[in-house]
Amino acid sequence: QLKACLFDLDGVVVDTAQFHYAAWKSLANQLGFDLTPEQNEQLKGVSRMESLDIILEIGNVKLDEGTKQRMAAEKNQHYLELCQQMTPEDVLPGVRDFMDQLVAASIKIGLGSASKNARLILAHINMLDRFATIVDGTRITKGKPDPETFLLGAQDLGVEPTDCVVFEDAVAGIQAAKNGGMVAVGVGDPAVLAGSNLVITGFEDLSLATIQYLFE
Ligand code: BG6
Ligand code: MG
Repeated sequence: QLKACLFDLDGVVVDTAQFHYAAWKSLANQLGFDLTPEQNEQLKGVSRMESLDIILEIGNVKLDEGTKQRMAAEKNQHYLELCQQMTPEDVLPGVRDFMDQLVAASIKIGLGSASKNARLILAHINMLDRFATIVDGTRITKGKPDPETFLLGAQDLGVEPTDCVVFEDAVAGIQAAKNGGMVAVGVGDPAVLAGSNLVITGFEDLSLATIQYLFE
């Protein structure tokens, strides 16, 4: 029975995924190689330092720990600069309306993000108070595809994992939800998000009944 919805942040609630990609791509370019959209899929849902490791592997570049820390900090600074232009208008279409349906049906709402910037981003889009719990990159020890992020969210909300739906745009995130025993709804391309219980292109016109149907 559906009792809670756990939302990923980047690429699900707001399109910050494009800013993460732009910032990583320019870092790769600085290092002398490119980062394609396909390669970028591997970075989604993955922590900052793990993302950097994947990128360095793609470019076949080896750096010492200090340089890596500096590059990750530079990427984050660039990312946050890009995020400056964001306003509440940038919440992805249909997200607020869908959450209104959840509130009306007394279904709990939580956030499960790998990002250490999650609260900052939520403040930009004026959605901090929309979530009964926020699990972000500052709280977790094991990133997606480990289920910790979402299990913590379910625990905070006082619901069983099997009564939760996770909305995710990342392959690692869908795996995390499945590993936690939750229903996984992919947001994006069905070809990329294989393994989801359902894939939607977005929240526009998404009715709660469609999600509840996944529990029957
Ligand atoms: C995830 C993004 O939500 O957060 C990843 O999908 C990102 O691309 C990760 O690397 C960590 O984010 P941050 O903001 O802590 O660098
Ligand atoms: Mg995401």
